[in-house]
Amino acid sequence: MNTDLKKLCEEVCDLAKQTGIFIRNERLQFSVDRIETKSKNDFVSYVDKTSEIQIIKRLSELLPDSGFIAEEGTSSKKGELYNWIIDPLDGTTNFIHGIPCFSISIALMRDEALVMGVIYEINLDECFYAWEGSKAYLNGTEINVSKTATIADSLLATGFPYYDYSRMDEYIELFKHFMQHTHGLRRLGSAATDLAYVACGRFDGFYEYCLQPWDVAAGAFIVQQAGGVVADFKGKNNYIFGREIVAGNAKLFNEFLRIIKTHFTL
Ligand code: IPD
Ligand code: CA
Ligand code: CA
Repeated sequence: MNTDLKKLCEEVCDLAKQTGIFIRNERLQFSVDRIETKSKNDFVSYVDKTSEIQIIKRLSELLPDSGFIAEEGTSSKKGELYNWIIDPLDGTTNFIHGIPCFSISIALMRDEALVMGVIYEINLDECFYAWEGSKAYLNGTEINVSKTATIADSLLATGFPYYDYSRMDEYIELFKHFMQHTHGLRRLGSAATDLAYVACGRFDGFYEYCLQPWDVAAGAFIVQQAGGVVADFKGKNNYIFGREIVAGNAKLFNEFLRIIKTHFTL
């Protein structure tokens, strides 16, 4: 099958925007009674689930033999060649508290390699996307990672672990370092948005552990197509399924990774 990834990416952007309208409208009338707790500090609602059903229905039409790795478990179909990795609402805690930073994240994998990423930041109506061989784009305009050359001049983003506290001491030591040696650290509450912001140069770097493939797959791909570098905390390639990621512009990436490795010796 000769899949036209550019055309498919346009369709996926449209799908993300349509689903985003649904999520934005639901937010206006959302009630806390509709929240379910999956496990400690891990929440979901009918909005996440309905959004995922809509996305999977349309992606199945767009690429009939493809399979899915999707957060809310709507489908566990395995595709022989193509598999989508989907977070139908990244930033659920923000969503339920009414904090306007949440996204839809959709990536496509061919065999083991990412070939497309789409992140739609719902409240800003910002769609970040790239496909195999393309540049990275934000609403039709090419984007690139920042040119910041040192950690001292950087603005970084991270996330806080909310159930696996086993590496807490190292994490806090790392905060101390970055608090004292950067322009600042941000915690937006949506890993997909963090990565999209690295891709367009708003953040110079992002790191977090305890993440899932649907949090990072689309963003990791878009960062790379925007000229950035992505790895796990060991500097290896296991950042989609390895539950930890570091991403940054190419100029400061080695310094960034060295500092993270110094604190995470595992
Ligand atoms: C969460 C967000 C958050 C990150 C968490 C994720 P969700 O995803 O990406 O930034 O810190 O680890 O679970 O649950 O809102 O889809
Ligand atoms: Ca997520
Ligand atoms: Ca989610």
